[in-house]
Amino acid sequence: MRGVELPVLRLEENDLASVRAWMERSLGLRGEDYRPAFLARRIGSRLAATGCADVRSYVDLLAHDPNESGTMASKLLVPTTEFFRNPEVFGALRRALAEISRRPGWNSLRVMSAPCSTGEEAVSLAILLEEMGLTGRILAVDRSRRALASLQAGVFGARSVGKLDLQRRARYFREEGDKARVRPDIAARILPVCCDLTSGVPARRVHVVVMRNLFIYMTEAAQSRLLGEAGRVLLPGGLLALGRVEVLPRYAMRGWTPVDRDARIFEWTGGSE
Ligand SMILES: C[S@@+](CC[C@H](N)C(=O)[O-])C[C@H]1O[C@@H](n2cnc3c(N)ncnc32)[C@H](O)[C@@H]1O
Repeated sequence: MRGVELPVLRLEENDLASVRAWMERSLGLRGEDYRPAFLARRIGSRLAATGCADVRSYVDLLAHDPNESGTMASKLLVPTTEFFRNPEVFGALRRALAEISRRPGWNSLRVMSAPCSTGEEAVSLAILLEEMGLTGRILAVDRSRRALASLQAGVFGARSVGKLDLQRRARYFREEGDKARVRPDIAARILPVCCDLTSGVPARRVHVVVMRNLFIYMTEAAQSRLLGEAGRVLLPGGLLALGRVEVLPRYAMRGWTPVDRDARIFEWTGGSE
């Protein structure tokens, strides 16, 4: 059965400004970095769900109703993720990591998962390093404190580990009822950090940046700035993995040489600052 289609909301300039101001105040995000069409879809669906007559009354509701504010935060931050999401990308990453770890001085890798959401991507990267016999750490960055909480606790829902193959599930998790605790040595490889990536990436001299499924929500200007940040924190020759669905402006891809076009892995050849 097809879902009900909602009419597309037209966000007037002043509505857009008040939604963005709320994002800034309540979520600590630069609202102007998010595409108006993305914001309009999210707000439109909540207008319909709450029965608010217009954006102004909806923003008023957001200011006074913590439940609605939490719902909207989750709609805007889109915490969807999974372990080894796009397994073929992890296959390509495995080959690329094997290659770069042979470079002189690159025997211990600093990898970023940014944004990492609830942490499944960061844990997958830590497992990948472990399985490859590589030393290294994963810096796991996200703006959502709520999302980072499960990574900080090292505990995931049984449903999310249910998607892992049985060997990895048994080897790297201890299941307790409907929860699964990640093996301590895997958790110890990961450092969770809460920050807004569009205000700057909190790292330097990184070997690999995995930045997937964030650009789709951003304006071109923000995409270009984020890519610039990725280049700034990477060592020359470092790798960037983008999400498979993301299409970025050509001008922003200057300095990025494809390593694997299908898996959307690029090498930073743009030089250092
Ligand atoms: C769809 S998830 C992507 C997770 C993971 N990279 C993946 O592909 O499975 C998007 C995440 O981006 C985070 N996010 C959105 N805007 C952000 C920002 N400005 N700074 C940091 N994290 C942000 C959200 O909190 C959410 O957890």
